[in-house]
Amino acid sequence: MVKDLYKSFNTQNGALPVIDKIGFEVSPGEVVTIVGASGSGKTTLLRMIAGLESPDRGTMTLDGKAITGPAPERAMIFQHFGLMPWLNVMQNVVFGLKSLPLSADEKIQRARESIARVGLMGFEDFHPKHLSGGMQQRVGIARALAVRPSVLLCDEPFAAVDAMTRLLMQTDLLGIVTEQHATALLVTHDIEEALYLGDRVLVFSSRPARLIEEIPVLIPKPRSPEIRTTPEFQALRAKVWRLLQEHTK
Ligand SMILES: Nc1ncnc2c1ncn2[C@@H]1O[C@H](COP(=O)(O)OP(=O)(O)OP(=O)(O)O)[C@@H](O)[C@H]1O
Ligand SMILES: [Mg+2]
Repeated sequence: MVKDLYKSFNTQNGALPVIDKIGFEVSPGEVVTIVGASGSGKTTLLRMIAGLESPDRGTMTLDGKAITGPAPERAMIFQHFGLMPWLNVMQNVVFGLKSLPLSADEKIQRARESIARVGLMGFEDFHPKHLSGGMQQRVGIARALAVRPSVLLCDEPFAAVDAMTRLLMQTDLLGIVTEQHATALLVTHDIEEALYLGDRVLVFSSRPARLIEEIPVLIPKPRSPEIRTTPEFQALRAKVWRLLQEHTK
């Protein structure tokens, strides 16, 4: 749960307000997506929930416990993959497990399972630069999954991959999240992605981000890409689009 969060950054031109009184709750197993304009403060919000940045004011809790720093219960998938270029696929995923009390063998075993789950078996020894963008993001997803987090924080995970790959990976991620009963908070500026993946969509204003509206997406899961063409989906899309336009400077 996030309550009354405020955040601003100190810049050469003074304080830059980025998050303006944001609060919401996410139930266990729920997938909540966030849409907002570029630069509105979405990454900043996720980084705060991940414990990588602290809010100026407000409270953040997970299962009743205050969030005070990074922890394996909250794993993040980054907008630009966030891989270590000098490590291979296996080493990148194992690196994500460094703070867990597991033996080296257990870490490798876990990493192997999650690499297989994202379809990268056989690429364990490859370095990121020898993988496509979509494959690099699969490594990012595998690294987060291997931790077995209770909350998956996804920051525009498909923004840097081509449209075709994005469609395939969205359906894949939806499957993974459902099968692991994971709770997920996913940020995107793609309205269709937000509606396709989310049980609920939070619409943010442009900077400083405020929560304009929460839109439940009552389309049953599992969902297939075809739902995007239904009148129900299109009506939701038009609604989110209108809200974003009204609240984007
Ligand atoms: N460490 C920082 N110091 C100063 N300003 C920052 C810092 N991090 C982010 N900002 C500013 O905060 C604002 C919000 O940035 P943020 O990355 O959260 O936006 P975003 O919604 O994720 O954008 P995008 O959709 O382009 O990824 C931007 O104006 C950015 O310049
Ligand atoms: Mg961002």
